[in-house]
Amino acid sequence: MASIRDLAPGTDTLDVTWDDGVTTTYLWLWLRDHSHDPETLHPVSQQRLVFTAGVPADIAGARAEVVDGELVVDWVGGGTSRLPVAFLERFRVPATVPTRVDVERELWDSTTIYPTPSVPYDEVMGSDEGTVRWLREVARWGFALVTGTPATTEATEELVKRVAYIRESIFGGFWWFTADLKHDDLAYTNTELLAHTDGTYSHDGPGLQLLHCIEFLDPVGGDSTMVDGFRIAAELKAKNPEAFELLSSFSVPGQYIGDGAHLMSSRPVFRHDQTGELVQVSFNNGDRAPFLLHPDEQRAFYDALRAFEELANDERLQWVHVLQPGEAMLFDNWRVLHGRKAYSGTRTLCGAYLNHEDFESRLRRGV
Ligand code: OGA
Ligand code: ZN
Repeated sequence: MASIRDLAPGTDTLDVTWDDGVTTTYLWLWLRDHSHDPETLHPVSQQRLVFTAGVPADIAGARAEVVDGELVVDWVGGGTSRLPVAFLERFRVPATVPTRVDVERELWDSTTIYPTPSVPYDEVMGSDEGTVRWLREVARWGFALVTGTPATTEATEELVKRVAYIRESIFGGFWWFTADLKHDDLAYTNTELLAHTDGTYSHDGPGLQLLHCIEFLDPVGGDSTMVDGFRIAAELKAKNPEAFELLSSFSVPGQYIGDGAHLMSSRPVFRHDQTGELVQVSFNNGDRAPFLLHPDEQRAFYDALRAFEELANDERLQWVHVLQPGEAMLFDNWRVLHGRKAYSGTRTLCGAYLNHEDFESRLRRGV
């Protein structure tokens, strides 16, 4: 842990100089707002109790010192606040998006994705560490298989619940499907599904998806495909910056019409956070809702879409594999695009959606 070398109070700020020479300027108001005393911060729930608007905008410290690993501030006009130095250290550098989980991503293509990232079923089921090892593989590559999973819906549901509670959607919670058009969606047919992400019609597109092929009788075709959307983004940004820029700013509408619902949402294919970091790739050409732009803009849109779709379906970037019973696949639906080749035979898949924040939570906590 870093320690504090010097404190320099100003009119409305406190400069904290750390032992490595870095100086952080905190507003007095920020320090008051983030005080760790039990009237300001609930000690169990860690939720803020202070009415921030009730703190005078010109609040100032009369005295500040470090005592036993805490910054102690006596306020002009009375009252004392305490903030752990370890807490302040987390904000040595202004961080506008403290929600991001730091993950080491490996941007892959067809030459670097094999052998397929995999974790044995027994390991995932055996301990929280085993489960998190699986999730770290998913964070690194965008997807990972669990091998040796019993080919039943019950075992698969138990497996997915190792990660988090299941997310409900128009398809239910835990689902299984075959080519029977039980829902009004191409997933319930045996036609080819080109590279796509699910839920472009949801404001909060499903974070992760688990798919397990529990039966494939008389199999012909039906290969699963995956492509790294972040890899596509990197390549497009380098080779076709106009297309990248358009797909990063123009909100593409998606829709789901069927099963008694009409869902719609829209977002750019490449969604970035406030710091400009890419956080989500969304693309489903089948679910794109009709819209009309002025001809020049419409042409630019189709140019960008073509550039994206060519990459998304380029064998050079694809992982291709016929999922076998026993191989459950978990993928980050905010990063990779998935697809399926046309097939014949009796093919039954089961699976579920999970929320992205629950995945991030497991990674953040490490258990
Ligand atoms: C889907 C889907 C893939 C498959 O259900 O969204 O892409 O292998 N299915 O059937
Ligand atoms: Zn899909």
